[in-house]
Amino acid sequence: MYFSKKIINWYKINCRKLPWRETKNPYYILVSEFMLQQTKISIKTIKSYLNFIKKFPNIKKLSQAEEKDVLKEWEGLGYYKRAINLHFFAKKLRKKNKTIDFFPKKYKDLIKYKGIGPYTGAAIASICFNEVIPAIDGNAYRVFSRYLGVDYDLTLSVSINKLKIFILKMMDYNHPGLFNQAIMDLGSILCKPKNAKCLLCPIKSSCFSFKNGTVYEFPVKKNIIKKSKKNRFFYYIFIYDHHKNLCILNKRFSKDIWKGLYDFPLIESQKKLTINEIRYNVWKQFKLNFDTVIYKIKHKLTHQILLIQFLNCEITKKNFYNNKYLEKFLFIPYEKICEYPFPSPIILFLKHEKMI
Ligand code: ADE
Repeated sequence: MYFSKKIINWYKINCRKLPWRETKNPYYILVSEFMLQQTKISIKTIKSYLNFIKKFPNIKKLSQAEEKDVLKEWEGLGYYKRAINLHFFAKKLRKKNKTIDFFPKKYKDLIKYKGIGPYTGAAIASICFNEVIPAIDGNAYRVFSRYLGVDYDLTLSVSINKLKIFILKMMDYNHPGLFNQAIMDLGSILCKPKNAKCLLCPIKSSCFSFKNGTVYEFPVKKNIIKKSKKNRFFYYIFIYDHHKNLCILNKRFSKDIWKGLYDFPLIESQKKLTINEIRYNVWKQFKLNFDTVIYKIKHKLTHQILLIQFLNCEITKKNFYNNKYLEKFLFIPYEKICEYPFPSPIILFLKHEKMI
């Protein structure tokens, strides 16, 4: 039996039942593929996907949404740039095309859009439009490099192009979408980085690594230099004005991973501050008395660790609002706070304080 036939037969029995697999609607597939970029499937991603398409059921609705509301549906998923790119895609598509359900169908057209890379473009083109093009993510790299015994460095793009040529020859030309999804599932269910379940694999009899006992020697990654994580110290100032029922929020504009999300006024430092240093900074910038640390959290990101403290600060001065540092912040009624999108550590803080 051909490689592709064995893979697809296995998939038909063992595939993961996922809500976006019940449709070929390109908008739904687009949303799911954006959500799954650099992300493992979990209950959280499935729930977020269902909520997202309920709130924004089509390109038109998404294109008309406010960025804040799109990010709210992405809350807790990380890599928020994906939501901004998805929103941008919807707006651009609606602006450029009069036909309501126009959607680019070809891989080469899809990858012209920000946020649609070779993998996402190939997944959409193959699943929705039957284009014969391999979708190569981390799972597919592992499956094919083990199966073929590919010993060139797959962190280099020339190597990926070489691998693509091999895969193209192995694909099912009638069912490219099924083939790509079967490889995704084989990689995440059986051909795992550690604890690979080789004995259950439908293609083990022709797998180079299985036959040679070299499964864990692939994929080869020569160029990876692990950088140590940098510590950053965040002191968030939580200010609630009891008289006006207002909380003070900050919108993040800077080019960072939380762009577009909201947090609180912040004092950031490269080193841990002493209580006196915190007190001094809070007074200097905000003319506030720092009272207590309400909540502490360590938030690990890919390249950095955020050591976060939330400070309770009381407004004591009558002319508190008369301060140039406050001009860039938003003053939000307490009950409206749940409408804003926040990064995970802020959500944990708000939940801890029973505010959301
Ligand atoms: N990861 C990325 N895209 C996926 C898909 N369509 N199915 C399962 N896992 C995926």
